[in-house]
Amino acid sequence: MSIRDIQNEIIRLKKEKDICILAHCYQSPEILEVADFTGDSFALSVSASKVENKTVIMCGVRFMAETCKILSPEKTVILSNSIAGCPMAEMMDKELIEQVKKQYPDYTVVAYINTTSELKTVCDVCVTSSSALKICSKLENDNILFIPDCNLGDWIAKQLPEKNFKLLNGGCPTHARMTEETVKKAKALHPDALLLVHPECQPEVVAHADYVGSTTGIMNFAEKSEEKEFIIGTENSIVTHLQMSCPGKDFYPLSKDCICSNMKATSLIDVLNCCKGVGGEEINLDEETRVKAKACIDKMIELG
Ligand code: 13P
Ligand code: SF4
Repeated sequence: MSIRDIQNEIIRLKKEKDICILAHCYQSPEILEVADFTGDSFALSVSASKVENKTVIMCGVRFMAETCKILSPEKTVILSNSIAGCPMAEMMDKELIEQVKKQYPDYTVVAYINTTSELKTVCDVCVTSSSALKICSKLENDNILFIPDCNLGDWIAKQLPEKNFKLLNGGCPTHARMTEETVKKAKALHPDALLLVHPECQPEVVAHADYVGSTTGIMNFAEKSEEKEFIIGTENSIVTHLQMSCPGKDFYPLSKDCICSNMKATSLIDVLNCCKGVGGEEINLDEETRVKAKACIDKMIELG
């Protein structure tokens, strides 16, 4: 079967079985082409809350499929490939954060959406990279315990000096592969290029950036910019997508190592198998966890 044949079969099955496919923009172009909604984590959460189909296939990682199930419990939610987790989301558990909360009882707990549903049950509000600044600035409490990504937390804290942030030592191992040295090398190779980075990058990388934003933010910036050359400091699929959407511009990866094996775990055949009902993993959450976790996702959608 060719890629086109597989895509056509997926499209046919979607219609026949009332399936909606959500795909994070780190997925491959052939998956994005068959998706009904694509975007960054915030856009996918909003789409997940509005989907009307019986079944949702989430092409991304586990916390994204869990978010979808939390928002749409009556739907069958399938994670496209059961091995697609997010190491950052697994870094901190509920017990650890309950202990930390005892040390900081007056703090509002802000959880990056890259967390497990269980951990979300002890947090006050979720954020994504594109909504974190807006949401943190709207919080009445000036004391914020931001988990688990200290790089995203640091970037937000620097923009909100009036707030008092407590950060923990977590983050994305994929984005952590890029250092100040990586930036110097890339800038030496492409001196005229703008540097666009994701806030999951380390502060010394972010400090050199011309633009900092979510995956969708980076793509929108590059598409609208008058400039012609860009170094991209996020998962390298974004370089491919931009090369396709802006043929007149040049895009270079900040590092050839910025590849998330979890985001890359899903293949087009996995998506086909999910549509056939023989692949992926159905997400099920116990109702108490779902309801408690939903409160901080609802708050994110309301404030973001
Ligand atoms: P955004 O799509 O929200 O920018 O998040 C990037 C990411 O690493 C998701 O796991
Ligand atoms: Fe998790 Fe980082 Fe991969 Fe995103 S890029 S899924 S944060 S490991």
